[in-house]
Order: sequence, then structure tokens, then C-alpha cells
Amino acid sequence: MCGIVGYVGSDNARDYIIDGLKKLEYRGYDSAGIALQTEDGIIVRKKKGKIANLEQEISGEKLYGNTGIGHTRWATHGAPSDINSHPHISEDESIAIVHNGIVENYMDLKKWLNDEHGIVFKTETDSEVIAQLISVLNKGDLEEAVYQAVSMMRGAYAFGVISKNEPNKIIAYRKDAPLIAGLGKGCNFIASDIPALLKYLNKIYLIENDELVICTPDRVEIKNKEGQTVKRDILQVNWSLEDAEKDGYEHFMLKEIHEQPKAIRETLTRRLDENDNIFLDGISLTKEELENFNKVYIVACGTAYHAGLVGKYVIEKMARIPVEVDIASEFRYRDPFVDDKTLFIAISQSGETLDTLAALREAKSKGARILSVVNVVGSSVARESDDVFYTWAGPEIAVASTKAYTTQLICMYLIALYMGRLRETISDEYYNSILSELKATPAKIEKILDKAGEIENLAKYLYNRTNVFFIGRGLDSAVAYEGSLKLKEISYINSFAIAAGELKHGTIALMEPETIVISLATQDSLFEKMLSNIVEVKARMAHVVSVAKEGNTKIEESSTEVIYIPQCTDEVSPLLTVVPLQLFAYYVAREKGEDIDKPRNLAKSVTVE
Ligand code: G6P
Repeated sequence: MCGIVGYVGSDNARDYIIDGLKKLEYRGYDSAGIALQTEDGIIVRKKKGKIANLEQEISGEKLYGNTGIGHTRWATHGAPSDINSHPHISEDESIAIVHNGIVENYMDLKKWLNDEHGIVFKTETDSEVIAQLISVLNKGDLEEAVYQAVSMMRGAYAFGVISKNEPNKIIAYRKDAPLIAGLGKGCNFIASDIPALLKYLNKIYLIENDELVICTPDRVEIKNKEGQTVKRDILQVNWSLEDAEKDGYEHFMLKEIHEQPKAIRETLTRRLDENDNIFLDGISLTKEELENFNKVYIVACGTAYHAGLVGKYVIEKMARIPVEVDIASEFRYRDPFVDDKTLFIAISQSGETLDTLAALREAKSKGARILSVVNVVGSSVARESDDVFYTWAGPEIAVASTKAYTTQLICMYLIALYMGRLRETISDEYYNSILSELKATPAKIEKILDKAGEIENLAKYLYNRTNVFFIGRGLDSAVAYEGSLKLKEISYINSFAIAAGELKHGTIALMEPETIVISLATQDSLFEKMLSNIVEVKARMAHVVSVAKEGNTKIEESSTEVIYIPQCTDEVSPLLTVVPLQLFAYYVAREKGEDIDKPRNLAKSVTVE
């Protein structure tokens, strides 16, 4: 995890770095720091807590330097503290680094640096070894020292380095952690992600694994592992800065919930031609290949995994092929049944989640065909896949994922329909009916959003409860998991999701008068069964909030409250059902006064195991 930014130019680097770090706080925010090349050598300031703490710390100080690096941290090795924060500076104060990732052999390197060079380490981090290592290897050529250091390091990392002795220069290196370089006017940047730089530029280089970047005010040079210069196309980023900022909403999460109709429209229209045929531009799966698969494996983490649960239902139903869904961190250590007849679908908003990436590599090594569903263009998951199905959600900043989830669902439907058509397991009539339902969802979501006030009132009344259960059957059970995750992530309420039919086999023992049960009853084919489950929990005095389709008023008899969503077919209902659950989580957390966009202990992009 963690976010890094570096600036080299003719202005004060401090301002660009602090601003860039704020845009990267989603990557981690338990401490932040900055290092500047100044007339008095390298000056480092770092502080536990959010970037605002660092800003306050340096507010009265005249810190000036044209070159600098900064960091926002999500602790792995060493507790969040001032001393463990980045940047780390070498013992002789000649080298400062910021690092994202893990140096796996840091203990061995520490021992070597201590035994051979008498270095005494100041922090508990793995990252400090990078600064110390480069400093002892540096014989007057920083670039050479960085190459030597990485040849001794194992793990996944992206780091930026400045040297006291090489002014106006930042060197950065990437191996299995995100890194970009930004091309400004008279200045250049490095960063972990695009939003950090959008305010200043829209031309970037995506740095690949085992590449070194040299940034000076007028030049960005990329070199490969062997030290040869690499030619890279410039990526013109078409996200506006506004996309990456709050746009008048109180929180990014609320903004992103409201952006779902647009994001869904975008994701759909980029894959449909004027005759409503799905075209998989850039995806080279042929009919023969699709026929050759005997299994689909969907692997992901967190919210993306929940999108995979919906994917299983719809791909099995429409394409009649067995689908397994797995959590990436479990998949990779289980020696799963995967071979060249497996279509492996990795779902990841960031495209940088290490568990998902490792699972993808595992599947690839067993011969599977890799299709990924990713939001961030050029991310690691995208680059290591055979084919990429991009979601067009735009930058998602809030840690709790919303618009990425609904656009991931759209991809699941499109993949299912595409495969179903090629495998001739669905009729044209069915294909057209689902597509027109999908196209109608943005307007239906807008209707739900128009009634957000009702959910806000409900949250005002229920926010101080301590136990919430989400129940549902069929596709509703998949959405129940996502609704529960949203609530616990940002409101810290103990919430739990379970398939409604399984309640009576244990969980119903927990029902008491103060318990809230959010029951999802949007599947017409299972509606009667769901009503029985609602009656069961209501009989135990639970407070039941049901989500049902407009017109199914029978549910009011057994529920304390009902939230209605517009009519739709059972298959596409997750796209609508999840929206009131996102809003409920949001308003409950707001009522509790929590830090919604940056919930405690979480980070947007988890690039460690
Ligand atoms: C983290 C985030 C979750 C996210 C998950 C997967 O745990 O807190 O919100 O769903 O990572 O992220 P990805 O970028 O792979 O979709």
C-alpha cells in the first residue's frame, strides 16, 4: 500500500508534494512525510496520522527546495509512528527514500548493513534498508547505486530516491508496485497513481516492472534492468481534475454513489454497437476458445469478490458453464483445479491488489486464459492479463467501493450474455430483453437516488444499533454480502450477511428486539420463500427493513419498514438493490460522525499480502 509522490522543477516542491499526497490518501493514511533537497542538505519532516497533521507540523516553517519526495503510509512493518513514517534517510544523511511495498529480505539486508558497515537502524520498517543500502553502495553515481541495491532486494516495491549530492534529480524504481512518471512544463513528477498529478498535467508514462526512472526538471528517462533507455508512449489521461475531486458532495463516497448511472452508461455504451451486439474490442477470445473452456474461475477480493458472486449466478444461468468464485488470498494457496480449459476472470478496481495479482499469476502458470475486469488503465492486473475488460467508472477515491462494484456487475452481465450467445445457450429474445433491462438501470438508479432522503431518515433513527444482519436468497444473497461489507467498513457496526435459508441453522439464535435485519426480497421467483424467512426473524422481535420491488406490497405485513426499488427482472436486480444499501451505510456512518472516505484500518488499494 502507501502512496508516493516526487517533484523536480523550479518551484517549491513542498507544495506539489503535499497536494499530491492528499490525492493519494486513499492508499493509506496512518502517517505522512516529505523530504526536500535544500541548501542545508536533505531535510525530512514526517508525522504520524493524516496528511493534515504533517501540514500543521510544517506550517510555520520555511521549508524550501526545488526537488523532493513525499509519502502517505499504510503500516506493514512497524507500527504507525513518527519515526517509522517515510521518508527514510540514510545514516550519513546523503540519501532519502519513499517506498511502497515490502522488501522481503530486509532482515538479511539489515544484518549485512550492520555487520559490514556498522549501520544502526532507527526504525522498525523494512523500507529503511533501501536508504541505507543505496547510501553504502553509492560511490558517486546514484543511478548505479540504485541498480546495485535492487539487485540485492527481494519483494514488491516502488520507491523514489533523492541524493544530497545530485541536485535536481529524482530516481525511482518499480517492481510489482504501481509507479507512474508525470510530464509537466519545466517540471516532472513521479507518483503511485494518476489523481496525485491531475491538477498539474495529463501526460504520463506508465512505468513497467524492473524499470528505473530518472527525473530532472526537463527530462524523464526510463531505463530497463540492463540500463538501456526504453522508449515509452505517452499516455494522455482524459480524466478531469473534477473527476478526481468531490464536486460539491460532502464525501467522495456520496459523489461516487451518485455517479453510478453515468458510470454504468459509459461501461455499457463502450461495449455495444448500434445493433446492440456486444463487441469485445481488444479482447481476442474466439468462439472456438470459448467452446473449449469447461470451467470459469472468478477470483477477487472484497467488493470485487462480491461482484464475482453475482457473476457466478449470471454466467452459469446464461452461458451454462460451471463457475467457481474464490477469494484471491485463498485461491493461491489451494492448488486449485485450473488448466488450459479454464477461463480465469480476475476482478479488481485498482488492478493492484496483490492477492488478486498473485492468484492471476498462479492461474496463468497452470495454463488458464486470463481475462481481467479492471478500472485502472495500465494497472498491474490489466498488464498481466491476456485480455482486459475495463470498467468505465472513472477514478474511485472513497475506500468503500460503490461505482466500481456496479460497473463490475455490468461487465459480468456482458460477459455472460456474450458467452451465452456464442455458446447458443440463450435465445435472441432473452439476450435482447436482458440488454434492454441493463440499459434501463441508470434511470432506475436515478429514481432510487431521488429518494435518498427516506434512507437518510431511516439511518438517523437506526444508526446507534450494534448488530445488523443482511439476508437474501439467490442473487439477493450475493448483494447481502456487499451491503453488509459497506456498513461495517464505514460505520464500524457489527454486520453479518447470510443466505436467508441458512438462518434457521444457527444464526437465528442471535435475533433479539434490538437486532436489525435488512432483508432483500427482490427475486420474484423466491419471494414467497423470502417472506417466510422474514416472518421467522420478525417473530423473534427483530427490526426488519426489507428491500422489495415496487408493487410487492405484501411484504409490508411482515416488515417494520420497506424500501422499494423500481420493477426489473430478477437477473438485473443487484444493480438496483445495492444502491439503497450503499446509501444506508453512508448515512449511518455520517450520523455516527465517522471518517467516511477514509475508514480506520482500511486502504483503497491493498498491495501487500
Ligand atoms: C481493499 C478495499 C476494498 C476493495 C478490495 C479489493 O480491501 O478496502 O474496498 O474491494 O481492496 O480491491 P480491488 O482494487 O482489487 O478491487
